[in-house]
Amino acid sequence: MDNTLKEKIDRITYQTSRLIFNEALEFLSVEFQGKVTFSSSFSIEDQVIAHAILSKNIPVSIFTLDTGRLFAETYSVWNSTNEKYSARIKAYYPNHSLLENFVNEKGPNSFYESVDNRKQCCFIRKVEPLKRALTGNEVWVTGLRAEHSPDRKNLQLIEWDEGNKIIKYNPLLLWTTEEVREYISEHNIPYNILHDRGFVSIGCAPCTRAIKSGEDFRAGRWWWEDASKKECGLHTPSPKGALENSQITQ
Ligand code: ADX
Ligand code: SF4
Repeated sequence: MDNTLKEKIDRITYQTSRLIFNEALEFLSVEFQGKVTFSSSFSIEDQVIAHAILSKNIPVSIFTLDTGRLFAETYSVWNSTNEKYSARIKAYYPNHSLLENFVNEKGPNSFYESVDNRKQCCFIRKVEPLKRALTGNEVWVTGLRAEHSPDRKNLQLIEWDEGNKIIKYNPLLLWTTEEVREYISEHNIPYNILHDRGFVSIGCAPCTRAIKSGEDFRAGRWWWEDASKKECGLHTPSPKGALENSQITQ
């Protein structure tokens, strides 16, 4: 990261440091007019952020990556969110020829056969569409939380994403699951019913299962793989850990 960029990140980190997360979103939407976008998987944390944006009409666009393999319950919460807030959350789809070639060559469930196949599937269904969704934006808002995994403890509230060449804002980074759930219930926000059935981290249906108490937050994702491989490529780990420096409060 060059010095100008570093100064910019330091400046907006400082300017948002005393703001609650929806004020910080408003600040960023003014600072980077028309260039702030939020990616939602309709997870419980994403619904908190969507509520803040949609109920206050903050000019931040919202998109989802529809892999084609999501749970029926995920489509339901997407639909109820559109209805509740009179919104049209934008969908991005995999490139049809990449997907056709991949499935025609390897079959519909090849992700169970090897990590390579799984990563290829995630690349085609999520990573490539993400690149298109982020094009033209300067800030990418996500629902990442430190509690999700050891790697995510190293994230910053506002940081530079070198892979995607974009500023990333993770407003709920320091929130606990209890705080997320309380916010959802206090504001009567639609959420994925699978969260009440033991599903904690929810991705594609064939690659997500419920977890038992005491299991890791992400144990239900790609459960047949080694824990060290459980990322799909949307989020690459940040090199330095400075959670302690994070200052935005909820
Ligand atoms: S993943 O990398 O393992 O798939 P995870 O499910 O934990 O990610 O979600 C973390 C954040 O990534 C979400 O809060 C959201 O911002 C983004 N994200 C994940 N999946 C999607 C998706 N299908 N569409 C849009 N954003 C997504
Ligand atoms: Fe494919 Fe599973 Fe990745 Fe979804 S989570 S894109 S189905 S490998």
